[in-house]
Amino acid sequence: MKKIYLYGNWKMNMTQEETEGFYKDFVGQATPLAATMGKTLEVAVFPPFTSLGVAASAAKSLVSCPAPILGAQNVYFEPKGAFTGEVSIAMIKDVGCTHVILGHSERRTIFGETDKLIAKKVKATLDAGLVPVFCYGETLAEREGNATFDVVSRQLRALSALSPAELEKIIYAYEPVWAIGTGKSATSAEAQEVCAYSKRLAEEMGARSVTVLYGGSVKPDNAKELLSMDAIDGALVGGASLKADTFLRIYKGYAGI
Ligand code: 13P
Repeated sequence: MKKIYLYGNWKMNMTQEETEGFYKDFVGQATPLAATMGKTLEVAVFPPFTSLGVAASAAKSLVSCPAPILGAQNVYFEPKGAFTGEVSIAMIKDVGCTHVILGHSERRTIFGETDKLIAKKVKATLDAGLVPVFCYGETLAEREGNATFDVVSRQLRALSALSPAELEKIIYAYEPVWAIGTGKSATSAEAQEVCAYSKRLAEEMGARSVTVLYGGSVKPDNAKELLSMDAIDGALVGGASLKADTFLRIYKGYAGI
């Protein structure tokens, strides 16, 4: 069985108390998967900055199953200084993060992040030894205008200054904007097509092999079909990652547990 990456992006949800609740439920839900976690299943959660501290402490108290990997949802590339409202890589590392989501479509569309800014964040994150989870994907208008591959290519090629070894350390997450939070997932064929294209592109840029997740309305009932596609290595889950039960059922359904 291939290794599945199950990553949960909590977005602007989950207070500290709710985060503690998630970890309490997580133990019960994940214990049957304890032997798989870290081998054929890699679980990560990305709480908001304010809940990273309690998530890290709750993770330390898990005994009957491995804790999920901890990541942040964003970071700034400068090391410190007068950047009001921003958080540095050293700060998220200090609180226990090993991963960080970068280039999410909500950062690109709502907060105006450009390919250039995101590339700087990716480079700084890699330099600090953290794993960037690099998100990209087309809008509905771009898909309908047959521009999906051009957009994806532009977004990925923004990373072309990186070395092959650096490109291989990134986890890529193809998230078509029209499928995020809409309940309308890409079909497994649509997701497979773009994930396979992304892998070819990363190879053209020098990487030997890369990990590509799909994100956009992944739920327990559509996960099996998506995760069974050969170019899809896992899922970046939004809404369905807020409850440990629903989140882990995404993997359980796939694995037939
Ligand atoms: P949903 O699973 O809520 O559609 O969100 C996907 C996403 O944006 C994950 O980063």
